[in-house]
This record gives sequence, structure tokens and C-alpha cells, in this order.
Amino acid sequence: MSANGSTVATGSQRRFVRVAAAITATGGLLFGYDTGVISGALLFIREDFAPLSDFIQGVIVSFLLVGAVTGALAGGPLSDRFGRRPIVLLAAVIFAVGAIAAALTPNVGLLVVARFILGLGVGLASLIVPLYIAEIAPPGTRGALVSLNQLMITIGILLSYIVGVAFTPIEGWRWMFAVAVIPALILGIGMFLLPESPRWLVKNGKLDKARAVLSRSRVEAEVETEMQQMEELERIERQQAQVGYKELLAPWIRPALIIGIGLAVFQQITGINTVIYYAPTILEVVGFSAAGAIAATALGVGVVNVGFTILAVWIIDRAGRRLLLLIGLIGMTLSLALLGLVFSFESTSGAAGLLATMCLALYIASFAISLGPVFWLMISEIYPLNIRGSAMSVAALCNWGSNFIVALTFPVLLAALGGAGAFWLFAALGIVAWFFVWFLVPETKGRSLEEIEAAMRGTTVSTSRVG
Ligand code: BGC
Repeated sequence: MSANGSTVATGSQRRFVRVAAAITATGGLLFGYDTGVISGALLFIREDFAPLSDFIQGVIVSFLLVGAVTGALAGGPLSDRFGRRPIVLLAAVIFAVGAIAAALTPNVGLLVVARFILGLGVGLASLIVPLYIAEIAPPGTRGALVSLNQLMITIGILLSYIVGVAFTPIEGWRWMFAVAVIPALILGIGMFLLPESPRWLVKNGKLDKARAVLSRSRVEAEVETEMQQMEELERIERQQAQVGYKELLAPWIRPALIIGIGLAVFQQITGINTVIYYAPTILEVVGFSAAGAIAATALGVGVVNVGFTILAVWIIDRAGRRLLLLIGLIGMTLSLALLGLVFSFESTSGAAGLLATMCLALYIASFAISLGPVFWLMISEIYPLNIRGSAMSVAALCNWGSNFIVALTFPVLLAALGGAGAFWLFAALGIVAWFFVWFLVPETKGRSLEEIEAAMRGTTVSTSRVG
């Protein structure tokens, strides 16, 4: 296959996709921020609305996930029908409304509603952001541009820690929610100025508009090649397509559905969110005592997550998705196994603390170069255009559903298996995930979305490119 032509685009053409991706990825920032902010805010919500049972606290935390499941389910079909751009705009409005509602809530009942609304935004953004970016990006830089979303998720989580610490002196939990209005406005206004996805436009017969959008980021020859590929596939889709979403059940889609669902579930059941949010507790068990040290380490987790996601963005289009997944899963599995071992010694010595800290760092770094970015990227790449949104909804739904189940069952798991057993279980699931990737997950780097789809359909599209 010829090298991708994006290298010959002019500076301003390259800048357009980068700016568009960065603006859209503000949705990722909100995803990270809104999922992370509750750990800091809850400490003071608990006091303001006392007495608050453990159950109600759990409801406040988990209703965001219930909303996310709902948003993920609705986002894909809505974006297939109405376009990608309106759904990003919808997510921005929902994020702003949810943030204001949470900040002003007079009682716990409305706070739960606000958390659900924020969750809707998170669920929508989780799939529409990678989807939109993948559809405007040139093949050679698609990995990096879509992974900006994951980078912004990690920055959002980190910011939520920092904002949490900043407002602690005034116990300002309402402010912690309120500041999320700013990125919501940036997302909304930014998206208002950005065009619809060229792929969605082609699917809906708006060829001239699609060509105009592509021309903003590609040289003419590239525009023509991509238009040709899209139109060829459109014809094939029309010939082969079943009516409506029945296509989701077509036998040839099944492998891609299994890959998306598998990666979705493995991303969660290998324990990422328990490690991120329980990091201070984990370190307490192995001997850390000072609250300050614990907070600093939690911040450290956030920094490592951001740092290694930057590395992933940088190398993902050269190293490829598969290699990163395979290496990252080995790192995750080894660090989890070792963390389990440290726990099994029940030691609170300095050495145990240091080893546990190193395991945590290795685990987060390994996730950040693999399952973190690659899951959201791959589900934006492997589905055919005419059901891309709906198929992504299925994968995103499984991701949020697994996230919810892990959050719900982790305390029970800890009580039943202990720390060591829980981490060994995650490690064992990491091994299963590795084989899943080895046998089933294809490489998508450097190929256009149309080439990936054509290969799945057992056909080809013209690949003549310039550059
Ligand atoms: C996952 C989240 C996780 C985050 C951590 C995302 O890809 O979907 O569940 O909290 O990465 O960086």
C-alpha cells in the first residue's frame, strides 16, 4: 500500500484537523473530570447533607455510570441518524446543564439527578468524540488524533484531583462541579464552528459538502482518492446492506463486534478504575500513613497516566495498535501479579511500600500505552460506516456496564479474596486479554477507514494515493 498522502498537506491544512481534534477532545476532558471529581467532592457533600448512609453515597457516585450507560446506548444510533456534529453539541449542552445542576443542588435527590445528567454527557462523549475525530482524520495520523481523546480523559482526571485539592480549604464542593462549565462551553462553541464529518455527509449523499470539508485538511489528489473510496464503499454498502440496524446482526460484522465488546470488557475487568480510585487505600494497607503522602501518590498516579498517554499518542501510528496492546497487557499483568504478592506478605515495611508504589506506576503506565487509548481508538476504526455509530454504542455500553459492575462488586471482591486475591484475579484476566488480542485483534494503523471496512467485507477499494 502506498504511504498515506497526509504528509504533503500544507501547514494550515494539517493544523485544521489538529485544531478540530483538540476542540472535540474537550469532550474527553469532561469525561475524565466528571468521573474523577466525585472523590474529592464527596468528602464535603457527606458533611453538608449529613447524615448520609453508605448506600446513598454509593448512589451519588454510581449514578454517573448509570447515566453513562444510557448516553452510550443512545449516542451511536442518534449520530448515525442526525450526524456526528449535533450529538457533540448535545453532549456539550448536557455537560453544562449537569454541572450547573450539581453545583446548585438544594438536596441529595437532585444531586443524584445531576450526576445522572453528567453521566449522560460522559456516555455520549465517550463514543462521539473518537467517532468524529476518526472520521475527519487522515489515515496516517488517525491514531494520534483520536488518542488525543484519551489524553484529555487522563488530563481531566488529573485536573479533578487538583481542583479537589484547591477547593478543599473552603470545602467548596459546589465549585468543584461548577468549573466544568468552562470546558463544556469550549466544546459547544468550538463544535459550533466545526463542520460535519465528511464520512457522514457522504453516507447521506451530500458529496459536495463532504468534498469541501476534506479540502480543508487534504491536498486535492488525496481528497479525490478518499472521496472515491467512500463512494465505492457507499455503493457496496447499498448493495449488501440489510435494512436498518439489522446489519448489526449480519454474520460478517460479528468478528468486529466481538473485538469491540472484548476490548471494552477487558479494559474494565483488568481493574483500571479500582487502581486509579483506590490507589490511596492500596498504599495505606502497605504502610503509608501521612495523608499528604497518600494525596501526593494519588496525584502521582494521575501524572503517570497523563505522561504515558502522551507517549502513546506519539508512537501509536508508528508502533501500531496491536503491538502496544500486547506490550501493555504484559506490563499490566506483571505489575498486578507483583502487587498481589506484596499484599500477600501483609508487610507494612518501607520496602513493601516502595514496591507497591512501583507496581502501581508500572500498571498505570502500561494501561496508558495500551488498553486506555487503543480501545476507544479501535472501536472508531473497525466498524462499517453505515452502522458505525450503533456498533460503537454496543462497545461503549459494554465498557460502561463493566465499569459499573466492577465498581459495584470490588468491595465484595476485596472482602472475599483479600487484596492479594483481587489483584491476582485482575492479573489472570490480563492474561486472557493478551490471548484475545493475539488471536483476534487486527492491525489498523495507516489504513483508511474505507480500506479497513473493505477488507472486512472481503472486497477492496482503490488505493492510489499521492505522496
Ligand atoms: C477508561 C476509563 C478510565 C480512564 C483512565 C479510559 O480509557 O475508559 O474507565 O478511567 O481510561 O485513564
